[in-house]
Amino acid sequence: MCLEPSREIMTNSVIKCENVSKQFYSDGEMVQVLEDISLEARENEILVIFGPGQCGKTTLLKAIAALEPATGGTITINGKKKTKPGPECGLVYQTIALFPWLTTMGNVEYGLKVKGMGKKERRERANKYIKLVGLEGFEKSFPIQLSGGMKQRVGIARVYCNEPDVMLLDEPFGHLDAQTRYLMQEELERIWQTEKRTIIFVTNNMEEAIYLADRIIVLTNCPAKIKQEFKVDFPRPRNITDPEFLKLRKEITGILDPLE
Ligand SMILES: Nc1ncnc2c1ncn2[C@@H]1O[C@H](COP(=O)(O)OP(=O)(O)O)[C@@H](O)[C@H]1O
Ligand SMILES: [Mg+2]
Repeated sequence: MCLEPSREIMTNSVIKCENVSKQFYSDGEMVQVLEDISLEARENEILVIFGPGQCGKTTLLKAIAALEPATGGTITINGKKKTKPGPECGLVYQTIALFPWLTTMGNVEYGLKVKGMGKKERRERANKYIKLVGLEGFEKSFPIQLSGGMKQRVGIARVYCNEPDVMLLDEPFGHLDAQTRYLMQEELERIWQTEKRTIIFVTNNMEEAIYLADRIIVLTNCPAKIKQEFKVDFPRPRNITDPEFLKLRKEITGILDPLE
């Protein structure tokens, strides 16, 4: 179902971006990457940001996390203006960003240790999420001993363990082989169904977007603007051969420019 980009204030929105823009200056030249982005992510939904490569998806996530703040507009998380990095946002990156010198347990409990949580309590919480992501038995493994899919499971467990208000997943399965990617999409859905969280999931893969999303926001080429929003309201788990899946896929394909 096709919707106009939502601009209304929703009571249960966790993240709100209003008229967000981002410009970079390199070699004295101004490069506009985000233009007038207004969106919201509602509590416990999976909002997928779908757009072509180099359009500004990572820039948008970094602006939301205030790692590289927006140059225009406002971003709020649970009603509070987001101006500096903090624990409200948990990130999972495309490139595996685990500490290679720490085990699965060490990586998952890292944030809690930094916060000063006692060993017993943080081990308990880390064990819960290691189990949730299916890594029981791999607590003592180092990243080098794990497959790509398993490393991303550690990344997901780590972000769950920190209990942020919102999880920002930046093409987390983009580097995985096709088979592992499908498996991880199913796994992420299972994990999210078990413990719902507000997730913004970035991808340039349409099937992944339709499989996972409650809503999909389609971005244009750089500078990224919101092209259209789609609600994905048919039941989970979805299958690419479902008539509704194919219909939505066709609808989204229909609004893309041939060069995107
Ligand atoms: N720090 C920066 N300085 C200048 N340009 C940048 C910087 N970061 C990103 N860009 C530019 O912004 C555009 C979008 O990048 P990015 O957000 O990484 O795209 P995506 O994640 O959609 O592939 C690219 O053209 C990139 O070169
Ligand atoms: Mg990117």
